Amino acid sequence: MPAQLACFEEKCRATYPITDVIYNCPRCGGLLEAVYDFPQNEVAGWKKLWRERRLSNAPIDQSGVWRYREFIPFLENFDRVVTLREGSTPLLNGPLAARLAGLDSIAFKHQGFNPTGSFKDNGMTCGVAQALQLGRDRVACVSTGNTSASMAAYASAAGLQPVIFLPHGNISFGKLAQALEYGARTLQVDANFDQILALVRQLAEKLGIYLLNSINPFRIEGQKTIMVELMDQRDWKVPDWVVLPGGNLGNASAFGKGLREMLKLGLIDRLPRLAVVQAEGAAPFYDLWHSQDRKNFTPVPDPHTLATAIKIGDPVSWPKALLEVCTSNGTVEKVTEQEISDAKATIGLCGIGCEPASAATLAGVRKLVAAGTIRRDADVVAVLTGNVLKDPDYVYQYHTGVLKMDGKPIHSQYQNEPTVVPYDPAAVEAILRLK
Ligand code: F0G
Repeated sequence: MPAQLACFEEKCRATYPITDVIYNCPRCGGLLEAVYDFPQNEVAGWKKLWRERRLSNAPIDQSGVWRYREFIPFLENFDRVVTLREGSTPLLNGPLAARLAGLDSIAFKHQGFNPTGSFKDNGMTCGVAQALQLGRDRVACVSTGNTSASMAAYASAAGLQPVIFLPHGNISFGKLAQALEYGARTLQVDANFDQILALVRQLAEKLGIYLLNSINPFRIEGQKTIMVELMDQRDWKVPDWVVLPGGNLGNASAFGKGLREMLKLGLIDRLPRLAVVQAEGAAPFYDLWHSQDRKNFTPVPDPHTLATAIKIGDPVSWPKALLEVCTSNGTVEKVTEQEISDAKATIGLCGIGCEPASAATLAGVRKLVAAGTIRRDADVVAVLTGNVLKDPDYVYQYHTGVLKMDGKPIHSQYQNEPTVVPYDPAAVEAILRLK
């Protein structure tokens, strides 16, 4: 059997057919993952094959996920894959951002260049492919915004009905707008992300709706390809650090799994260290990491942050993420709202831009460099998870100096307020003469 579902728990490791509709191990309740018998004798040819596909006009070759399909072989065949040309995102240098962090250089792997503007597209094309393989016609997720935008787009493109659940009043308008535009049935619930996830899991099972939250192992498979593509872009030279924001911790789990599998197959010669960065008001994984024995996970009941994408207090994938951070000799950091906002504006000044959750990476790197954990000359890649236009309210408030967290003002160090000018050439000229 080339692909199976396996319980992630070391003491269980029960396996199930890849087409079972389960999200947790029926035997022990553990998280599930896809496992494969990779054909070791073919791996040597993969790098060349993957490069050659960049010249192809076939949709699945143009996809930065399916281009690497030998690495995620959970489908019977690829006939019904729906791709919006996800992935193929750039690696961008940010000299000004490096200076802020105290590094010689930093590169951003910008997942905001995806079709719906976030890394969720990498996973969603796989989750939807599995929904089609299973013959499901309705898919659901609870989301802080990006998952729902992505699921709505891919489900509609595939002819499935998307049903999304959102924490009412707690997602950015850009993301809500996307879900509506892509035709999702949208339910705004007066509860937080963690509470709604518990509700949706019950209902999905009862109503036979396929669940596409990051607990879905096939989403994780798609997100693994972000790391494969990164290594491919770097001609397989492994960076010292890969830094990413942590919310529900699906991405940390996916990156770690992808990297371990690449190492095992000989595609890379070592693991980069993973640094996961959380917002101070929603940092249960940080607390776990810095706790004595890292065994007791304590959720944050009322998470707080303006980076709404990572406003999650009870991340489901923490056991997987913990394994990955440990295995990679990585670390977990947390950052304040002030630090996130300044880091975000600095990324903007590099001409790059991103949404608040993504900027937590740079803020985290800055702290880790100051603490001596990351060396000044280290080779660092920070993953920007979402596009700057996802949350225009935040941007506008920051640059006009009115951004607040729980009533407390955030100091806009890089404020860039628009100037209102009269319709008068002399007055405009006078303003422009001031540099
Ligand atoms: N960055 C952005 C822009 C996100 O949208 C998310 C998660 C994360 C980082 C954190 O990733 O959950 O894998 O640790 N957004 C989810 C959503 C929860 O519903 O869109 P994670």
